[in-house]
Amino acid sequence: MPADLVIGAQWGDEGKAKIIDYLSKEIDLIVRYQGGANAGHTVVVQGKKYVFHLVPSGVIYPNTVCVIGNGVVLDTNYLIKECDELNKEGFDVYNKLLISDACHIILPFHGIIDSHREKNSGEGKKIGTTGKGIGICYADKMMRIGLRTGDLLDEETLKQKLEYFLKLKNEELIKLYNCEPVKLDAIYDNLIQFREKFKGKIVNTAYFLNKELNNGKRILLEGAQGVGLDIDFGTYPFVTSSNPTTGGALTGSGISHNYLQKIYGISKAYTTRVGEGPFPTEVYEAEAERIRELGHEYGSTTGRPRRCGWFDTEMIKHSVRICGINSLVITKIDVLSTYKSIKVGIGYELNGKKLDYMPSYGLERVKVIYEELPGWESDITGISDFNKLPEKCKSYIHFLNKQIGIPISIVSTGPDRNDTIFLD
Ligand code: GDP
Ligand code: IMO
Ligand code: MG
Repeated sequence: MPADLVIGAQWGDEGKAKIIDYLSKEIDLIVRYQGGANAGHTVVVQGKKYVFHLVPSGVIYPNTVCVIGNGVVLDTNYLIKECDELNKEGFDVYNKLLISDACHIILPFHGIIDSHREKNSGEGKKIGTTGKGIGICYADKMMRIGLRTGDLLDEETLKQKLEYFLKLKNEELIKLYNCEPVKLDAIYDNLIQFREKFKGKIVNTAYFLNKELNNGKRILLEGAQGVGLDIDFGTYPFVTSSNPTTGGALTGSGISHNYLQKIYGISKAYTTRVGEGPFPTEVYEAEAERIRELGHEYGSTTGRPRRCGWFDTEMIKHSVRICGINSLVITKIDVLSTYKSIKVGIGYELNGKKLDYMPSYGLERVKVIYEELPGWESDITGISDFNKLPEKCKSYIHFLNKQIGIPISIVSTGPDRNDTIFLD
């Protein structure tokens, strides 16, 4: 059976989790493939809101198996906290969750170093990270010194690896950041506790997932962040430290590309971004405030106000190109209900020349070419039938579709699972 993929086509928070939950009805296994607890994924079912950070967003369905793939950087304490909270809500997460034995583990000093670096970076150098230690943990992975979940399975190996790892990190903490060194025993005991909680659940998920696909099971791959935050194809250095793009879905899960079928690109009907970095269609002050309040645009992980702007066609075309997105999803279109007219960025100019792609350099200097479309000025929240949308709203959707050139399969008209229009 095929594997489908959900990717954020902007700078994260596009409403991926809502769409993953919606699609999960037909799915056997949901796999998170990159990022960590920097993600904040919101699902609303019959008015009740759930925010996931590490646990895959399909967990609410009783029969889906949830998998944390090898590409995820795992904060073990955070995962336990999240699972315990979900358990209290009546979800049997401990029995539904499998964890790759090749996930890199986030330890307390990763967050400490992340925060120190942000605090001490000079003017214009701050990234605005979530402070969860994501980039530092991925850096240790690339340095080939990191600790992996599989290392927990043998106590002797764990002690040896941890000793070497802490020796290197303590040097860094003391010399570079003037911090207290961390002690092995407390970290060791904590990791053993984690291992006991997830006994039998730390496995070779790449082997397992490919086997399940061969056995006819359906898989949905859950991206965190978005293409604009991709370490290679995003607005470097103002990015996260992983690949939310299709390449990252394959390396972060171990699923063969032969299985990939639907690649959903999720985009808001406008654009938002949290943290620093270029944002060509950004609006400011009262104009930004209006979108922010109507769309409740505050970060699901850090609560920071999100920067807001208009839909950026060139950015979405970039995401389609890089990821092979073959199905577009437009979310939060209800947020534009009160607008008399709506702007859409339809292209970039740099140094007086029209660009036909999103540049890797100089994005902060592009001039955006806009088209202004009439708004529909009526509340469309919760509409689930395309034919019931006002004509001007349909025209807005058709316009985006024509600009981008791939089918729009889902339009979301509210946060709830049912506020969804499915277009074949
Ligand atoms: P994710 O990180 O991509 O999963 O997105 P977040 O959960 O961080 O942010 C999306 C926010 O928009 C959440 O609060 C969702 O409940 C909400 N949301 C999702 N789809 C819609 C929609 O169509 N309309 C409205 N008004 N809110 C939505
Ligand atoms: P979801 O999955 C929006 C942003 C941070 C910062 C940059 C680097 O909910 O869409 P990091 O902590 O990853 O090193 O921060 O990336 N960022 C997100 N922005 N949604 C997210 O996740 C994000 N995860 C990280 O704000 O600009
Ligand atoms: Mg989010």
